[in-house]
Amino acid sequence: MTDPEHSVPESTEIELEPNPARTIVPVSERHLSAEAALGTVGIAKRSVDRAESRWASRAWWDADADDYQAEHGDFLGVADFVWCPEGVREANARLLGDIAGQAILEVGCGSAASARWLRARGAYAVGVDLSAGMLGHARAGNTESGIDVPLVQGSADELPFATAGFDAACSAFGAVPFVADSGAVLREVARVLRPGGRWVFAVTHPMRWIFPDDPGEGGLTVAQSYFDRTPYLEVDEDGRATYVEHHRTLGDFVRQIRAAGMVLTDLIEPEWPDGHDREWGQWSPLRGRLFPGTAIFCCERG
Ligand SMILES: C[S@@+](CC[C@H](N)C(=O)[O-])C[C@H]1O[C@@H](n2cnc3c(N)ncnc32)[C@H](O)[C@@H]1O
Repeated sequence: MTDPEHSVPESTEIELEPNPARTIVPVSERHLSAEAALGTVGIAKRSVDRAESRWASRAWWDADADDYQAEHGDFLGVADFVWCPEGVREANARLLGDIAGQAILEVGCGSAASARWLRARGAYAVGVDLSAGMLGHARAGNTESGIDVPLVQGSADELPFATAGFDAACSAFGAVPFVADSGAVLREVARVLRPGGRWVFAVTHPMRWIFPDDPGEGGLTVAQSYFDRTPYLEVDEDGRATYVEHHRTLGDFVRQIRAAGMVLTDLIEPEWPDGHDREWGQWSPLRGRLFPGTAIFCCERG
């Protein structure tokens, strides 16, 4: 896969602001080395096309891969399937149904802990991810666990797999928030699934968009409109995106699922479990007890 040409659209007005993440929560401490490597100087809200989204996501996840693994690796495990910071596990939730003997694609697999958990239970799991840095941790996880899942580098909106080759697909916060057109991801997943195949994906709950990314009190006050789909960017001093995240409303997702020829069978909004006190970025017991942090869409290809 080659990098697309990376350029900022000429007509775009870029608003540079001090990064509130630096003052509200210590995001920059966790992401310091990625921000330094990419020359991040602030945030912007502007439209961003497919090529720039892909470039920024690849650069970001390559630069942040080691820190992400260091911070979350023990929570995710080496061969465990945790859907979200609320700690929902596939072992209990069984959102993918019977997995033994099934060919299952993990989209935006990161370290591929979920794919290895599936493989260990008899599925033919394959992981796909945009970032060589994240796939490096996936390879290390294969070696450490002795569970060898095939790993492929590619983008979720242009999956490098044959039509109807998988029985199911899953994603825990992989790819969907980082592509300019999440509808394209859903269409691609529908294409590679056999008829009747399940597609289950977890994303940040769309209503979190309206609050600052703060696990504390600051994350309880509405700061922007739910209806504002303008992407969140972090940018370098030339205004180039170094990190991109896109917002879709619940209704947007429902329409994209239907447009991809899939049926939405459930929407899970995990509640924060009693006694679970581990924070993950903006996910915290304080906020989790009041409103959902994760949305898990369960779909079936028609
Ligand atoms: C928040 S991490 C989640 C990783 C893993 N699923 C987990 O639960 O830890 C997001 C992942 O999506 C991947 N990603 C971002 N954009 C992508 C794209 N366009 N196609 C495939 N993967 C992508 C990143 O490289 C990263 O590994």
